[in-house]
Amino acid sequence: MGLSSMRQVTFEGAGGPEIIRVVEAARPEPGDGEVLIEVAAAGVNRPDCLQRAGAYPPPKGESPIPGLEVSGRVIARGQGVTWPAEGDEVCALLGSGGYAEYAVAAAALCLPVPKPLSLVEAAGLPETFFTVFDNVFTRGRLKPGEALLVHGGSSGIGSTAIQLARAFGARVIATAGSAEKCAFCRALGAEAAIDYKTQDFVEAAREIVGKTGVDVVLDMVGGSYLQKNISIMATEGRLVQIGFLQSGLIENFDFRPVMLRRLTLTGSTLRARSVGQKAEIAAALREKVWPLLESGAVKPVISASFPLEQARQAHELMESSAHMGKILLVTGR
Ligand SMILES: NC(=O)c1ccc[n+]([C@@H]2O[C@H](COP(=O)([O-])OP(=O)(O)OC[C@H]3O[C@@H](n4cnc5c(N)ncnc54)[C@H](OP(=O)(O)O)[C@@H]3O)[C@@H](O)[C@H]2O)c1
Repeated sequence: MGLSSMRQVTFEGAGGPEIIRVVEAARPEPGDGEVLIEVAAAGVNRPDCLQRAGAYPPPKGESPIPGLEVSGRVIARGQGVTWPAEGDEVCALLGSGGYAEYAVAAAALCLPVPKPLSLVEAAGLPETFFTVFDNVFTRGRLKPGEALLVHGGSSGIGSTAIQLARAFGARVIATAGSAEKCAFCRALGAEAAIDYKTQDFVEAAREIVGKTGVDVVLDMVGGSYLQKNISIMATEGRLVQIGFLQSGLIENFDFRPVMLRRLTLTGSTLRARSVGQKAEIAAALREKVWPLLESGAVKPVISASFPLEQARQAHELMESSAHMGKILLVTGR
């Protein structure tokens, strides 16, 4: 392999995990305001599976290489970068390009590796911490003492949401698809975890929060969950939609409770937003959340790590939903 080449993951067309290939390609170069990172590890996220299936193409101008987050060492800088320095260990949020031995990141979207974490573990931070902080706290306005209902509690997103909401003094109820996953959610700080496969989550949540209801719902399921979420929300409650694992199309939706209980229905995607908007989230994370990671109060939960060559197995595991927490790809660098 040449000095300026690298291994990277590519998708041959659109389809299942069998279309994943590892190929040799040229290393990218950092532009103005960007750094080149020698990647130690890349996080695997559900949106990567959607991208592979052809349902979530990278925004215009982004690399076709999958991967929304990495950790590694900065080895080169473009013009106008004051931090990080060459040699610094960082984790970074990317628009794409993480499943590779080298990746370009906006300097403003890099964050230092918290002391208690290894360089590899830090790859599991950016995508879920940016998403959860922005959606639960900025958009959802979750306050101390309020109750948060998190669906997919054992997912990468869910495991981060449970920990952050607890760390900021909120009550947390999670849903997950097995007794083992529910125990995982409780160990992370959820006051209660509901196995949605054996219980009606609305009835079970009502027993916990009573008539008052929950203040914020973080939902990635959609479909039949929309009306159910609304039925359990407190007056002035906020529903934050970040995915549609079941469906984004809802028939016969009764909008009346939204008006009568003054509910807010909102949501967002992270990847399509500008570097400037994401940099604001990075700055807020560094100020408010990084101290919690530095103290060890909050940490990413790593379910499994695979070598880059086994990206296919990593996607198969994610789509089996057998994991709890994050899945990583490790480059060996
Ligand atoms: N909007 C954004 O900016 C943004 C950013 C990142 C991720 N996301 C979204 O957040 C969600 C979680 O992402 P992640 O990377 O944390 O995923 P993940 O770790 O793969 O977790 C997804 C989990 O959701 C649960 N689930 C519930 N209903 C499901 C259904 N109908 N089909 C499949 N799984 C279902 C599964 O566990 P059990 O069913 O066993 O409980 C599964 O493990 C995804 O929908 C992703 O697209 C959104």
